[in-house]
Amino acid sequence: MADAQIGGSGERPAEVSASPADETISAGAPAEVGVRFEVDGEIATVTLCRPERRNAQTPAMWSALARFGEHLPEQVRIVVVRGEGPSFSAGLDLSLLTGAPGQRSFSEIAALDDAALDRLIAEFQRGFLWLRRPEIVSIAAVQGHAIGAGFQLALACDLRIAAEDAKFCMKEPALGLVPDLTGTKPLVELVGLPRAIEMCLTARAVDAAEAERYGLAERVVPAGDLDRAVNELVTSLLAIDRHAAAATKRLLLGARHRTLEEQAAAERSEQMVRLRTLFASLAPQGSVGAGN
Ligand code: CAA
Repeated sequence: MADAQIGGSGERPAEVSASPADETISAGAPAEVGVRFEVDGEIATVTLCRPERRNAQTPAMWSALARFGEHLPEQVRIVVVRGEGPSFSAGLDLSLLTGAPGQRSFSEIAALDDAALDRLIAEFQRGFLWLRRPEIVSIAAVQGHAIGAGFQLALACDLRIAAEDAKFCMKEPALGLVPDLTGTKPLVELVGLPRAIEMCLTARAVDAAEAERYGLAERVVPAGDLDRAVNELVTSLLAIDRHAAAATKRLLLGARHRTLEEQAAAERSEQMVRLRTLFASLAPQGSVGAGN
């Protein structure tokens, strides 16, 4: 199964892909489901690879993403999410609205009872939620269109680097749906409530320059420089100690839910661990843990 394959070497890149029919993950198989996973030491890359369908997404893809997240090797610190071809992702595969071979149509899904439908959507969301884990930093490299589920996948990442031709659009309301792949919270946190309402309820496309102004993209670069910009960011992130990075990300992730006093306490608690890890062995005998 995937974990052995994904985590096996730690040295050589391991490739993992999933088949839409049985949704199993197996190393070395063609990426029929439209997503490819590679692990190279501390860096994992998720590549949407249906460029001929503009990387349109399916539930099989979301399951594969969830499994990859579950089996992410411990050494991985950075996850880069990218799309092949001219678009990052055109969002939901629209053939699902009517029914596609090997996939349940939306009319079949809609007929499920509440509990089953809730479970199913939660399962879809699992493909996105793991990208926020404190132990990793996830980066979306966005070129061309990031529509609906594509926009939400970019929002699921910690950071976004956009090419100048990037266009972000929350299309779901225009199709009578809501964005339900975990994108609404990061969107509101990044751009603020009024702009999130305006963007979603007009379903308009936001270009790269606007995205950078709103904080939707950390950096915008010419299309030909996207990979280089991502690599530079990865190099900078990897230069920081992994434990300090994870502890700091934990603090930052929790900051918005805590009061100032609670956050100050959380900082103390994380710092105690850092200090003890870094300096305890150097402390004079009896000074650490002796109530000083
Ligand atoms: N689903 C299935 N196929 C798609 C697709 C999608 N979302 N987007 C593009 N394709 C297919 C096209 O049908 C076309 O196929 P053919 O070559 O067989 O005709 C091929 O990909 C190339 O598409 P275009 O020729 O349109 O490519 P383009 O570069 O000119 O335009 C685009 C790209 C702007 C993304 C355009 O394809 C487009 O608008 N696609 C639809 C986007 C959309 O509405 N997505 C749904 C978002 S809502 C959502 O995601 C809901 C949710 O999560 C619940």
